[in-house]
Amino acid sequence: MTVRDISFIQDKVAETWRDVRWVESVGSTNAELLASGAPGDILIADEQTAGRGRKGRNWVTPRGSQLCFSALLEADPAERLGLLPLATGLAVADVIPEARLKWPNDVLIHGRKLAGILSEADFDAATPRVVVGVGINVAWRREELPVETATSLNLEGIDVEWDPFAADILLALGERVRQWREDAEQLLQDYRAVCATIGQRVRLERVGGDVEGTVDGVSETGEILIDGTAYSAGDVTHLRPAN
Ligand code: BTN
Repeated sequence: MTVRDISFIQDKVAETWRDVRWVESVGSTNAELLASGAPGDILIADEQTAGRGRKGRNWVTPRGSQLCFSALLEADPAERLGLLPLATGLAVADVIPEARLKWPNDVLIHGRKLAGILSEADFDAATPRVVVGVGINVAWRREELPVETATSLNLEGIDVEWDPFAADILLALGERVRQWREDAEQLLQDYRAVCATIGQRVRLERVGGDVEGTVDGVSETGEILIDGTAYSAGDVTHLRPAN
């Protein structure tokens, strides 16, 4: 069991999100909303049986382990879609002060991955849409985590109540999505302030050849800037600290 009282969450976020649903189990909340949702919909699931990660990877969501949800939005402004996952990571960090972001949108605590975000667009729909999906590790046993480099709120000594936590995350997301739509300067200012990647020496693995250098910043459209050159998240397979 993750969220306990969906009507509590619905009431708290009613002015921000049109429809908030909870299901016990689903293949993927992203896939489900893309197939049958409308803009402004939120789908929360206790468990995913075919969760999707970035770069075609799987994302494991055993029952009761994560705050796992997706939000469906109109894909507008399409030219700034690359910033949407960054805005979403920032929304998670807004609610968890200990969190930092690894570009583009991994949420870390003490260098370990706490949450993953996957945004997927559908331009074939009558109105182009984008779904943004979030999995935040809330309650895991260390030995059950899928990878050693992951962590969970409980393992970091952070105990949350599921329903108020879910409502806070959805409200923060609503606000960051608003800033994204309005191209508000504050969004990138705040992102840069919590992005742990900026200033690091990194090795970036990508299709066009690996790059090593120092991260100068993140561009207005969400690309990483390494020694003055911009690289977009879609071209990057791995980003690691350089040795
Ligand atoms: C990553 O690889 O880091 C991204 C993981 C994104 C997982 C979330 S959980 C909710 C939503 N539904 C999915 O199938 N994936 C995303």
